[in-house]
Amino acid sequence: MVEGMFRPLEAVDVSGILPRGGTILKTSRTNPFRTEGDVERVLAHLAGFDALVVIGGEDTLGVAARLHAEHGAHVVGVPKTIDNDLSATDVTFGFDTAVSIATEAIDRLHSTAESHDRVMVCEVMGRHTGWIALQSGVAGGADVVLIPEQPLSVERCCELIGRRHARGKDFSIVVVSEGWPLTFDEETTGEVVGSADTDAFGHVRLGGIGERLGGEIERRTGFETRVTVLGHIQRGGSPTAHDRVLATRFGVVADRLLTSGGWGRMAALRGGAFTDVPMADAVAELKSVPAELYAEASAFFG
Ligand code: F6P
Repeated sequence: MVEGMFRPLEAVDVSGILPRGGTILKTSRTNPFRTEGDVERVLAHLAGFDALVVIGGEDTLGVAARLHAEHGAHVVGVPKTIDNDLSATDVTFGFDTAVSIATEAIDRLHSTAESHDRVMVCEVMGRHTGWIALQSGVAGGADVVLIPEQPLSVERCCELIGRRHARGKDFSIVVVSEGWPLTFDEETTGEVVGSADTDAFGHVRLGGIGERLGGEIERRTGFETRVTVLGHIQRGGSPTAHDRVLATRFGVVADRLLTSGGWGRMAALRGGAFTDVPMADAVAELKSVPAELYAEASAFFG
């Protein structure tokens, strides 16, 4: 939309994309509000269209919400991110696929963990929320799950691993979310590990906490520890059946919004029902993992 690169999409162009991940349009997160003149360019291009369907997470939909609120743009949103961190919808598409891939990885890590009496640390994505870590951790029977919202300390993590070993379980699986701050008992705010570069939305590129945590666990417990970083594996390949149906049904809601002129609204799933919500509500704040949900899961740690 900034550069005015368009192509007509007929039914024949989108036929066959259901089992594919990624975007066939090759679009990527761009912040037109950051570069002078970009918003005007987007609006000029939009003038040639009836409406724009915006598919993405908090950054992409945040831009769409502003285009609507500040410039009256005819936009309709569809919630898509593996992070599942959009408010006003119970779930985003992409999330179930990421959780399924991470769960399978955890299952596979169990083999080496158990065979060689190791601690296996698995670093997953999710940015500043721990949805992927928590869901895959619970599904994969992880022994400790570390998420940004409820930063359990390194000491507590080691204690839980030690407790398992004392019970005769000589291996452990630790799932850590990329945004978990390296937290020690004596510190109030831990370090979030990532590269110093920021993207167009001011986000640092997260990653690397797994290695740091693995080193701490090995040094403190004396147990051999290995680290796996799932990275982009968890958001690639074939989507789960659940995500395909979710995306399709969100598409039906988006179509309804287009025909009824529901500008500034987003398709959503709430309490099992497909509906639509103001896009601004979805991006007002991150949907974080509730404390009760984490507390429930932590009953299975150690
Ligand atoms: O927001 C989705 C996400 O996969 C995050 O979980 C992750 O931190 C980020 O994108 C990675 O982005 P990139 O591929 O640009 O490094």
